[in-house]
Amino acid sequence: MPFVPYQRPVRAAFIGLGVVYDLNVRGYLDNPDVEVVALVDPDAERRAQRQRDWPDAAVFATAAELAGSGLGVDAVEALLPAPLHADGIPELLDYGWHVNAQKPMCNDLTDARRMLDAAKANDRVLRVMENYLFYEPLRKLKATAESGEIGDPVGYHIKMVANGLGATIETPPASFEWQMENMRRGRGILVFDDGWHKLSTALWLFGPICEVRAWIGTTSFGPDIHIDAPSTIMWEHENGVRGVWDTTLAVDMYLRSDYYTNDERWEITGKRGYARVNRCTGRGIQEPSLEVYADGQMRGYHALDDDWASSFRDSGRHWLQWLRTGEGDLLWSADEAVEVLRFALAAYESSAHQGKGVDPRSVD
Ligand SMILES: NC(=O)c1ccc[n+]([C@@H]2O[C@H](COP(=O)([O-])OP(=O)(O)OC[C@H]3O[C@@H](n4cnc5c(N)ncnc54)[C@H](O)[C@@H]3O)[C@@H](O)[C@H]2O)c1
Repeated sequence: MPFVPYQRPVRAAFIGLGVVYDLNVRGYLDNPDVEVVALVDPDAERRAQRQRDWPDAAVFATAAELAGSGLGVDAVEALLPAPLHADGIPELLDYGWHVNAQKPMCNDLTDARRMLDAAKANDRVLRVMENYLFYEPLRKLKATAESGEIGDPVGYHIKMVANGLGATIETPPASFEWQMENMRRGRGILVFDDGWHKLSTALWLFGPICEVRAWIGTTSFGPDIHIDAPSTIMWEHENGVRGVWDTTLAVDMYLRSDYYTNDERWEITGKRGYARVNRCTGRGIQEPSLEVYADGQMRGYHALDDDWASSFRDSGRHWLQWLRTGEGDLLWSADEAVEVLRFALAAYESSAHQGKGVDPRSVD
């Protein structure tokens, strides 16, 4: 892609000013790489609330109004409800803006293709940000595996308990409604929405996947709310490493969290030892956020930045720095995000066929 880095601060706009803005804005505050020039949201209260952070930014109810205003914008932070990505992201690319999009990219490969085509047609960069790849304990987990300290990796285990009590972030009714809409379309909140992050870590750590097997369950709360747990997804990477992600629902469990609450663990088993991240969004196990065992000794990392919000800050800074220099990986590019989507779609296909093995590259 003939991308030309900017020789000046990037002119950016936020498109969507809801809950996740509070996390994403951290990459933009006090950042000399960016000038926030516009804020867009149909909700007037949100516009007024967020304008306090950026008093000089212009505000608009729609992206079309911003595009028609003549204001110069280089890149946008797309924080739209997920069901709007399929139409909304091509629209933003068509206005000639680079786009930093949120997960889940979209629900199927047809919509993903439309996004990739729009980026190509407009000669713009589409990034699907993955903040977990910037969470310091997970970065250190990767570095530990690559250092040889625990020997060659032979297995990867992710455990997630979606607990019901302890979240600080409140989900407004409108956000809950679009989550439920995606659930009704077969893209549930645990396996697809949150799971997008978990599947991403596998691809990031161990590369392409050749086979996926899954058993996706449902727990119903009345006739309309169906949560996609208990669920278990297993896979094998082309390099031979096998992985498993298990997600369980524990509605009455309390775990204090500054954000969304979950009890989460990521563990790489190597030939000589293991390395485990003990928590992420919730304040689960009060042990060091990363522990490494090898040769009869356990080492704990007590001083990593294990505040989940820092991963948003660092992901945002990375994107803006990338626009300034064009150097390094996007984490994730749109093509890499399509691999995450294929991984999830392979899990759905496997589960629909009693757990048969599915090659994500064969998913149509
Ligand atoms: N990376 C993560 O861990 C993480 C966490 C939470 C949410 N997300 C993602 O962030 C995105 C937004 O989530 P959220 O929780 O902020 O949702 P939200 O519902 O709180 O906010 C969405 C905002 O978009 C606005 N909006 C609706 N239609 C719009 C349009 N056409 N143009 C501009 N704005 C519009 C709404 O008024 C609302 O303010 C979703 O894709 C979600 O999956 C990611």
